[in-house]
Amino acid sequence: MGTMEDMMIAGTRALKVCLECSGESSFPRHMLSTKHISKVSAEAIFEAADYAHLWVNSRKDQVHVNLFHEPSTRTRVSFELAAKKLGMNVVNVNATESSSVKGETLLDTVKNLEALGANTVAIRTNEEGVLGDIAWCSSCLIVNAGDGTNEHPTQALLDAYTLRQKWGTLEGKIIAVCGDLEHSRVARSNYHLLKTLGAEVRLAEPLFVAYRQPMLFEEVRPFDSIEHAIEGADAVMVLRIQHERWNARGGGSAYLQACGLTKERLALAKPGAVVLHPGPINRGIEIDSEIADGPHSLVLQQVKNGLAVRMAILWLLTQRLTPRA
Ligand code: CP
Repeated sequence: MGTMEDMMIAGTRALKVCLECSGESSFPRHMLSTKHISKVSAEAIFEAADYAHLWVNSRKDQVHVNLFHEPSTRTRVSFELAAKKLGMNVVNVNATESSSVKGETLLDTVKNLEALGANTVAIRTNEEGVLGDIAWCSSCLIVNAGDGTNEHPTQALLDAYTLRQKWGTLEGKIIAVCGDLEHSRVARSNYHLLKTLGAEVRLAEPLFVAYRQPMLFEEVRPFDSIEHAIEGADAVMVLRIQHERWNARGGGSAYLQACGLTKERLALAKPGAVVLHPGPINRGIEIDSEIADGPHSLVLQQVKNGLAVRMAILWLLTQRLTPRA
């Protein structure tokens, strides 16, 4: 930590970089996917998150809506706190209490929120890949807070931010992403972003490879065992088992044995390797409690960083709405 003067200089530089980047055509207008986030845009988000305290109350009179059609603790609460810290008015719409139960489409709901003055809408839905069309048809800035098995870009950004905080750079680092790949939007968003940031990404889902839809990870061939994926890795990202998306396939009891993170498996990674999990954790299924609560774990740091990263994302997206002095 430098002197106050160093902090002021760094903060001013961050502001300049972020303003330039958010004004560039390459910076996404909406936050829908990590596929099209460039390294420069990701760095601008990270830098804006480093100086999140500078953006407090900079978005007064703007309106943020959380429109969640699936349960959430971390994402919904951190978007609410992030928007409030920016000075925005925040409205939470719980799908079970909204007019979607009367048959209103997601697009119609967003158009109505737009008519009521919403500037940004964070949407969590079980419908995959629909948010692009909604963003196209709405003047609200749309943030994908998780769409089915497709993507969860803000989770990937906070994961990468947490690793960058630990290492300084992700360039050349080996990251093993292990677990329920087929249903994981977190894995998909992380896969794209971590590669953009220069990391080697290893995917492992040993028990259920036979069920894989081959194109979910483009041409990537997953490792055939979690042990091979973890060997020599700098980080292990454990995925949540998506009970709600398993339908008739069952799953659970054999999970820890097949692809859960145990002490023995973690010992195969590099000394000092770190462990991430997006949460919520299923203890004793995806990960041993001893690891989740142990010195390798960055799990709660990820949650903490979610606030700063989501502040940065809302701040950068709304930069285009804010008249420049
Ligand atoms: N990681 C994550 O998306 O958690 P929530 O479902 O609690 O938001």
